Amino acid sequence: MNILLLGSGGREHALAWKMAQSNKVEHLYIAPGNGGTLSVGENVSISATDFPAIKNFVLEKNINMVVVGPEDPLVKGVYDFFVSDPALSSIPVIGPSKEGAQLEGSKDFAKGFMMRHQIPTARYKSFTAATLQDGCRFLEELEAPYVLKADGLAAGKGVLIINNLDEVKQELGNMLNGKFGNASATVVIEEFLAGIECSVFVLTDGKDYKILPVAKDYKRIGEGDTGLNTGGMGAVSPVPFADATFMKKVEERIVIPTIKGLQQENICYKGFIFLGLINVKNEPMVIEYNVRMGDPETEAVMLRIKSDLVDLFEGVATGTLGSKTLIEDERAAVTVMMVSGGYPEAYEKGKEITGLENVKDSIVFHAGTQMKDGKLVTSGGRVLSVSSYGKDKEEALAQSFQNVQKINFDKKYFRSDIGKDLK
Ligand code: AMP
Ligand code: GLY
Repeated sequence: MNILLLGSGGREHALAWKMAQSNKVEHLYIAPGNGGTLSVGENVSISATDFPAIKNFVLEKNINMVVVGPEDPLVKGVYDFFVSDPALSSIPVIGPSKEGAQLEGSKDFAKGFMMRHQIPTARYKSFTAATLQDGCRFLEELEAPYVLKADGLAAGKGVLIINNLDEVKQELGNMLNGKFGNASATVVIEEFLAGIECSVFVLTDGKDYKILPVAKDYKRIGEGDTGLNTGGMGAVSPVPFADATFMKKVEERIVIPTIKGLQQENICYKGFIFLGLINVKNEPMVIEYNVRMGDPETEAVMLRIKSDLVDLFEGVATGTLGSKTLIEDERAAVTVMMVSGGYPEAYEKGKEITGLENVKDSIVFHAGTQMKDGKLVTSGGRVLSVSSYGKDKEEALAQSFQNVQKINFDKKYFRSDIGKDLK
């Protein structure tokens, strides 16, 4: 079959790499793709949110399935766009409906959903400019640190964690007055949860589900989890503390109630659910839902799926996921992100990348690269993700770090402590 994958990051390169291994795939197109997706499929210069252009392309190339990488097209309703157009309605989209995508698109919706279905999460209340004073009073009831979340999508920057009460009240006012534009017209204030985080990915056809290999990502720019938040500096899978006992709790208390809740509320959901979890004294709680795979977790998780991903997607599309099997690779997999110096603040682009031909026994996924005048150059903050297998994460990490040394571009930076906080 012919598949169109939407997106352009390391996550999409990893998804494309995995899908390209399926003998069910005739042509794999990536819109818009990056300098790495070229090696596993054909890039198409269409934005992932340009629905009319996507329609034309899908019809012209006889696309049989659309797989959505990032949240933006989902929150904007790409699923509904296909279902409501007679020319497109027979072509499955792997991703939730616009309503389902609200689990990521609106923190207030997600929290309300968790309350309705008794899914464990931090205590919270939501406020608007009209209820600013109530918000300040709610903050007084909580203990520091305080957590403020912009309701809408804010490019990963919409969560503030603040220690001081006066400062947090000030920031609440700023957010409600448009600090993140319309995304912070509503703000969720929630209780701070102390614990260690992990990412659980679920693939569902709306009734059955498969829990994919669990991963942990590293969000801060600096070693020891310090400094600014980034799009992700590395990931490991499996996660030692997410053992069978913990995962049983995740399945019973979170995965099953989430899928049942979607059904009860008649929300069409055929795609990935990403549970951002925190382990609070061995009890899993939901920090957030996302409606897509994680980045850079995907660059490790895809290595640990032995089954044909396209076959699983067919199960999602036809409502037969329950009859498919998900086989995990027993080995550990990790990924180490190489970023542009300066990121996540200002950085330069267009730096030539060399040494890729010397990489041995790792898989390099491109995140922000581009072919320019026959040369591969940097085109983003996160540039390349170096993924490896090992009998354990130490072996896999050693492999990735060895190859990271062989790849060069001006002002390259990476975190050398990925996975080191875990036993
Ligand atoms: P989110 O965008 O919701 O994933 O939040 C970004 C990050 O903020 C999370 O990955 C957590 O590290 C942190 N965070 C969010 N909510 C809480 C909370 N209630 N307690 C502690 N940390 C949180
Ligand atoms: N790695 C976290 C995310 O993709 O949002």
